[in-house]
Amino acid sequence: MVNIAVLGYGTVGSGVVEVIDTNSASLEKKTGSGINIKYVLDLRDFPGDRVEPILVHDFDIILNDPEVRVVVEVMGGVEPAYTFVKKSLLAGKNVCTSNKELVAAHGPELIQIAREHNINFLFEASVGGAIPVIRPINSSLTADKILQIKGILNGTTNYILTKMSQEGWDFDEALKSAQENGFAERNPEADIEGYDATRKIAILSSLAFGNNVDFEDVYTEGISKITKADIAYAKELGCAVKLLASSTCEDGKYYAMVAPFLVPASHPLYAVNGVYNAIFVNGPQIGDVMFYGSGAGKLPTACAVVADVVDAVKHLDKHIYTFWSPEKLPLTGTENATRSFFVRVNGKKSDCEDKIREQFGSVRFVSTAEDPDGFGFVTDLVAEKVFDERVRSIPGFAGRIRIEGTLS
Ligand code: HSE
Repeated sequence: MVNIAVLGYGTVGSGVVEVIDTNSASLEKKTGSGINIKYVLDLRDFPGDRVEPILVHDFDIILNDPEVRVVVEVMGGVEPAYTFVKKSLLAGKNVCTSNKELVAAHGPELIQIAREHNINFLFEASVGGAIPVIRPINSSLTADKILQIKGILNGTTNYILTKMSQEGWDFDEALKSAQENGFAERNPEADIEGYDATRKIAILSSLAFGNNVDFEDVYTEGISKITKADIAYAKELGCAVKLLASSTCEDGKYYAMVAPFLVPASHPLYAVNGVYNAIFVNGPQIGDVMFYGSGAGKLPTACAVVADVVDAVKHLDKHIYTFWSPEKLPLTGTENATRSFFVRVNGKKSDCEDKIREQFGSVRFVSTAEDPDGFGFVTDLVAEKVFDERVRSIPGFAGRIRIEGTLS
């Protein structure tokens, strides 16, 4: 039996305990030795709960116990998680975490410490919940040079947008349901404003491109400005609104962004609904590889953590090499990226049609009963910078959403 300790008994932590308890017999076969949860650390008490006899409030009990070989960090947030994880690694204990804030902020340093101590720092659950994507990038896809990653990386926002579109729920109703289902972050602003997806694309891009993508350098827009009218216009255009995260290497330059897009029905990401995430990884030789599955939630995320524990147990005295240099990867701004835009305008089409055509040439106009006092239009391909300059002169300009690919 390999002894482990679980730091945090919240949504994911209680899921980890449940998964290990439920699957203990098969985990014994898969690890060759079995997994014993020796401690659970939390500030709170859980009288009558299964973890009551193993609950501790003092991290030093875990740190100073040489029998604990693997520490599972599922507390979330940078501190005290960073301090606990760093101390654990320096003490020669393997660490498995679901904490994308920690990994995005300190990934290269923690991997380096693990390497120096011939142990492992594993973080599959930090991106895409149950979806295996970090391990494939580190192993199965290493033969090619990855040039692009693109996908839906946040379950909460995808759930909200799906419910608004399919059920007609309003934003707050959908967010409340996402929270009740355990998808959302403690502070859901991280989901809604795109910060969670930004950390995840920074982690994937760092692993794919090798150097460190600072999440703070990634252009980020969330979904808080998406209205019911936008959703209705998207439907009129045969599209769905999706929060897309992407990073690209093109002509030696690197780009990354998180923003809502109109995704046409012909695109594979159109059908990714609810809490599901999907991630495309593209290389010149592998072509497109797509990963799909539950992107959030207690048990799917816990399963990814426990799979890392299994890997750690199988490699107790062997570091699994991960290439993530601390050297910063400079990102180029997206102002020269060329794409179509959907634009929403308040007012009568007849009052500004000429101005719109003067600025954008031939456009496609669209209307919806959800927006009786306004209308929308779709531009041809235009550079972001040029679009931003021209749209300012449109009277009644009320918002814009980028379009993924082209509309049929
Ligand atoms: N809040 C995150 C999401 C949890 O909704 O995707 C999983 O990382």
